[in-house]
Amino acid sequence: MKLVPKSPNVRTPGPASLLPGAVGDFRKPVSRSRTIRIDFRNIAIAPESLMDKFVIRGGNPLVGSVRISGAKNAALPAMAAAILTDEPVILENIPDVRDIQTERNLLVSMGAEVELGYGRASHRTTISCSKLANPEAAYELVKTMRASTLVLGPLVARMGRARVSQPGGCAIGARPIDLHIKGLERLGATIKQEHGYIEASAERLRGGHIIFDKITVTGTEDLMMAATLAQGETIMENCAREPEVTDLAALLTKMGARIEGAGTHTIRIQGVEKLHGARHRIIPDRIEAGTFVTAAVLTGGDLTLTNCDPSHLGALIQKLEEAGVRIRTAPDSMRVTNGHQLIAADITTEEYPGFPTDMQAQYMTLATQAQGTSIITENIFENRFMHAHELVRMGANIKVEGRRAIVRGKTPLSSAAVQCSDLRASASLVIAALVADGETIIDRVYHVDRGYERIEEKLKGVGAQIRRIGEILPKRATAPSVVA
Ligand code: EPU
Repeated sequence: MKLVPKSPNVRTPGPASLLPGAVGDFRKPVSRSRTIRIDFRNIAIAPESLMDKFVIRGGNPLVGSVRISGAKNAALPAMAAAILTDEPVILENIPDVRDIQTERNLLVSMGAEVELGYGRASHRTTISCSKLANPEAAYELVKTMRASTLVLGPLVARMGRARVSQPGGCAIGARPIDLHIKGLERLGATIKQEHGYIEASAERLRGGHIIFDKITVTGTEDLMMAATLAQGETIMENCAREPEVTDLAALLTKMGARIEGAGTHTIRIQGVEKLHGARHRIIPDRIEAGTFVTAAVLTGGDLTLTNCDPSHLGALIQKLEEAGVRIRTAPDSMRVTNGHQLIAADITTEEYPGFPTDMQAQYMTLATQAQGTSIITENIFENRFMHAHELVRMGANIKVEGRRAIVRGKTPLSSAAVQCSDLRASASLVIAALVADGETIIDRVYHVDRGYERIEEKLKGVGAQIRRIGEILPKRATAPSVVA
């Protein structure tokens, strides 16, 4: 299926590669350019990675230091924000994970130029949306990454129209996007839903008053972006307060948007006529940091995380302290030391600053090794306990009752063949394998690759025994034997 204009190019920076009209000090000279062509037949998941598995031998403490990557969930809306201007937006600290590649492909399919940094600048991307021709997010992309819907608001705001596939259900819950749609209607967009697509149009959006029925992270981001170019003032209430929302507001403000209150429940946006280019550094990934902290605690390691922001991890740190863990924090690093006696502590997932649903699965693995019974309540998504069943296969004692999981520790974990169902469930299985007795084989690691940058290299670097293998294809058995 053809998704893109004739020459879908992603370019690495070159001397004259940025577009005229760029503002500020963000046009740094770069020496060489390289053009990468995207193979749109492999637009979703490269088939080879579909077969990848991790083989993990448990028992090694994680010791040393790990550098935390940029936050996937901050990078995705930031990339969508580039649609709002015809000038280049330069984003730094972009994680090299599959969801980011999907978003690059999506932007390119609309006619954007996306330049990738390389070498020391490999986490930088420059996006220019001066020639957007095709304001569409096709089903083939949206079905692999729901966050593709983040382009809806920016496209209507800048281009006056958007055609975005309905995302459909997902492994962790129904996850509708009705609140994005209702919000756009409040800003004056006309919405049509047919053939599995949402078609939104508006000559120019106008400011409005939006009270979210429910707190939604990408919904807040989508509508905040839309409102930046609307005529007049928009007031949004019951907004998400996640650090990723605040980071997006910081980027939009650098682009010329007038936003107040990001990080609180009420955000006010004064619409402007035009936004301009900007340079922005994405915040560190709090969930990657939390995942490594949990792994370090469980393995009895001594791990320092650098390039992270512990102030975004308050609820997790407090809960770990309650469970008997000692964590030392500095403004951009944190250290977990060994020798903790884990005690059961209950968690309930909540919107930020509550305990993050994206850390619930990893915490469940930790609870299997704590003394006593932990009750884990999942409030955000209705089906986010798939990992529990795999953990039980590894020896955990977990009973799922609706939105609650009752974890009775401390049960030894033993290796097994397990499979990932979603991104954070995969992380919980990786952590479980690090403390399990024997060699665990984890299947469908493409889920891990969506959101964790080089996880096996990072883990190996601090002492884990982990390797990635491709599936052994039955080809050899069926191919005619070669006679010498
Ligand atoms: N919801 C609705 N209608 C909507 C939008 C949301 O009913 O229009 C419901 C959802 O079904 C859910 C709740 O509201 O029950 C919260 O969903 P939210 O919209 O906040 O989730 P999201 O924006 O789709 C982001 C992250 C998720 C993270 C959640 C919650 C990104 C790209 N994704 O999703 O991250 O779990 O917020 O914090 O930011 C992950 O990284 O593994 C991940 C799933």
